[in-house]
Amino acid sequence: MKILITGASSGIGASLARHYARPENHLILLARDKNRLQELQNTLACETDIIDVDVCDFELLQEKIKEIGSIDMVILNAGISVGHSLEVTPFDDFKRLYDTNLLSYHAILEPLLPKFKEQRGGTIVFISSLASIITMPSSVAYSSSKRALNAYAEGTRYKYRAYGIDVVNILPGFIDTPLTQKNGFSMPFLMSLEEGSKRIVKAIEKKKRIYAFPLRFYMLIKAIDMLPHSLKERLISKITSKKI
Ligand SMILES: NC(=O)c1ccc[n+]([C@@H]2O[C@H](COP(=O)([O-])OP(=O)(O)OC[C@H]3O[C@@H](n4cnc5c(N)ncnc54)[C@H](OP(=O)(O)O)[C@@H]3O)[C@@H](O)[C@H]2O)c1
Repeated sequence: MKILITGASSGIGASLARHYARPENHLILLARDKNRLQELQNTLACETDIIDVDVCDFELLQEKIKEIGSIDMVILNAGISVGHSLEVTPFDDFKRLYDTNLLSYHAILEPLLPKFKEQRGGTIVFISSLASIITMPSSVAYSSSKRALNAYAEGTRYKYRAYGIDVVNILPGFIDTPLTQKNGFSMPFLMSLEEGSKRIVKAIEKKKRIYAFPLRFYMLIKAIDMLPHSLKERLISKITSKKI
């Protein structure tokens, strides 16, 4: 299987690359940090190419994607957060987050989707987040980008189902990676990177449309989300005043 993984230089992306590094697979690892990609490449026992590109450089990104040709699966995972604060998020940070977490995904899929249609098959995996379900006041940019991604994933699934294209949307809770190691607050149900990526691989194998995990955290978030608005608001303020 030929698999493109974005955000492969670190965290979840690098771990997924290690999971898929089997002789029958050909991996294409994409991120900015060429050294880290090469270090990873040297440890993998399968055919591997690397693409060092900033996904926010949409023109260059699309050129590189077109050069790849046909693939079987793309894992759209590159992502950032912009710190958790109650201050107004600077516009440039907000834009960079949306460019990375959302628009780059379409920049990649625009040239790939016609190929998937032509070959009448392919798998698109989105790495969203449980943070897409409830928007905390300290993560407006991040949560809203992931909620928009859920909508994008849903529509893409409906639009391309007839072509045999599978869309898997993954909503992880907290996983121990460089992204979350920056968080200065307690992270309920924090999972090891190995455990988190194992679960993601399993969900992809089963072609789950939506996979939100860990289940207990997901259920808790869903329960809060279903509360009457006034109660939900009071609860969120209470959690926020403890966190910040
Ligand atoms: N960890 C969690 O708890 C958690 C929970 C829910 C969802 N997620 C999502 O999972 C995904 C991966 O997160 P992670 O925790 O593995 O974080 P991470 O360790 O910080 O990895 C992020 C990856 O994205 C790449 N990236 C960031 N900006 C990029 C850019 N402009 N161009 C190209 N690549 C870029 C980084 O590579 P370079 O720096 O080399 O470019 C890195 O490989 C993200 O979408 C995140 O929102 C994570």
